[in-house]
Amino acid sequence: MDCLEIKGGRTLSGTIRISGAKNAALPILSATLLAEGAFRLSEVPSLEDVRIFAELLRELGVEIKSLEDSTFLIDSSKLNSHEAPYELVRRMRASVLVLGPLVARLGRARVSLPGGCAIGARPIDFHLKGLELMGAKLEIRQGFVEARARRLRGAQIYFDIPSVTGTENLMMAACLAKGKTVLENAAREPEVVALGNMLKEMGADIHGLGTDTIIIHGSRHLRPVTCTIIPDRIEAGTYLMAAGAAGGELTIENCVPEHLDTVMLKLKAAGLKLKIIDSDKIRVRRRGRLNSVDVKTQPYPGFPTDLQAQIMVLMAVAGKLSVITETIFENRFMHVAELKRLGADIRVEGRSAIVRGVKHLNGAPVMATDLRASACLVLAGLAAKGTTLVQGVHHLDRGYERMDEKLAQVGARIRRVKMQDSDPG
Ligand code: EPZ
Repeated sequence: MDCLEIKGGRTLSGTIRISGAKNAALPILSATLLAEGAFRLSEVPSLEDVRIFAELLRELGVEIKSLEDSTFLIDSSKLNSHEAPYELVRRMRASVLVLGPLVARLGRARVSLPGGCAIGARPIDFHLKGLELMGAKLEIRQGFVEARARRLRGAQIYFDIPSVTGTENLMMAACLAKGKTVLENAAREPEVVALGNMLKEMGADIHGLGTDTIIIHGSRHLRPVTCTIIPDRIEAGTYLMAAGAAGGELTIENCVPEHLDTVMLKLKAAGLKLKIIDSDKIRVRRRGRLNSVDVKTQPYPGFPTDLQAQIMVLMAVAGKLSVITETIFENRFMHVAELKRLGADIRVEGRSAIVRGVKHLNGAPVMATDLRASACLVLAGLAAKGTTLVQGVHHLDRGYERMDEKLAQVGARIRRVKMQDSDPG
């Protein structure tokens, strides 16, 4: 099993280029099911989750060619299956994003229920209720959801919680439905807006992207397009925090600073020096010890849950006491036990973690439990004295493109090792 061996105590200096956003690429890949013909997607990140999603699309009969410059050529004209198998959905829960497009395009879908996840139950009831409101007949059989609809019809749908993939699934389904669909309390994430913009390029009639009410007037046909995947704001936020953890100065390029407004406000309050350069770069610098700040995760434009574990590393070595509250997922503090192995002083009380800053962390072997927890442990290794061995790197490879190489290029002493030959010292 691959691990990352990190020798801490080295400040960072240089430039890191941000890759395309995983959470924009996945729904956009799914949207290619909605129209026949040749799509060209560029800046597609080279990630395990994207590879699994491409495998799923191929299983459905979609032709996909990936070119070396992170471009995908995709054609779903020969779509010949409506079934997403358990083996693939088990490995990547966002596979549920094919449900809406398959029902809309083929009139039926058989998608494995995603099952549990380390960070929470993550049900898909909003997705299913929305499709039923649009006229689909749903049955749950042998762990699969089977959906049928001669043609979906527009509906008024209210999300109890602004679900990101729930909004994406139903927005895609509504594009081919008969009539008007209103999504209320919809998600406002940039990745939802990016998907919506591509659907509009495909000929969809959509209003309200980026607000909590999205209105879609369905049409009979959509057309294939060329699309560039937006930069990954979570990757960018992670590297801003890498500079906060290790110290030094980084320039993060190919990013969208306005997608990180709330995050940058929080990091400035924590004492990081941030400067936007040429509208697509952010320079980050840390001098001296950080201030403790409180953080509460919220749906966009609030502080993202996907950066909660990462900012906890900064608070673990900040000056005083910080309260970090996770409001989106019910079990997203599994990195706490691992950070405590590195000497962090953290106490979990319900949905909040009370983080008392310590002078420094000490390297040790730790185990990654999920994607963002693995990024947090890498940052902790950068901050710690001595050597940290992060096991479970396959979690990291799901959502970060070549993180070890990108960090090594800016001075981090980090290398990918097999368990047996890591350097204990
Ligand atoms: C998306 O997950 C992201 N994944 C997650 O990123 C991200 O953490 C999350 O949004 C929140 O921003 C992708 O976009 C592929 P939700 P999603 O539906 O859509 C509850 C990462 O690290 N809910 O917005 O699955 C749910 O349990 C990943 O890149 C229901 O109850 O999240 C959660 O408490 C992790 N019923 C809340 O809503 C539903 O039908 C928000 O979930 C759907 C969701």
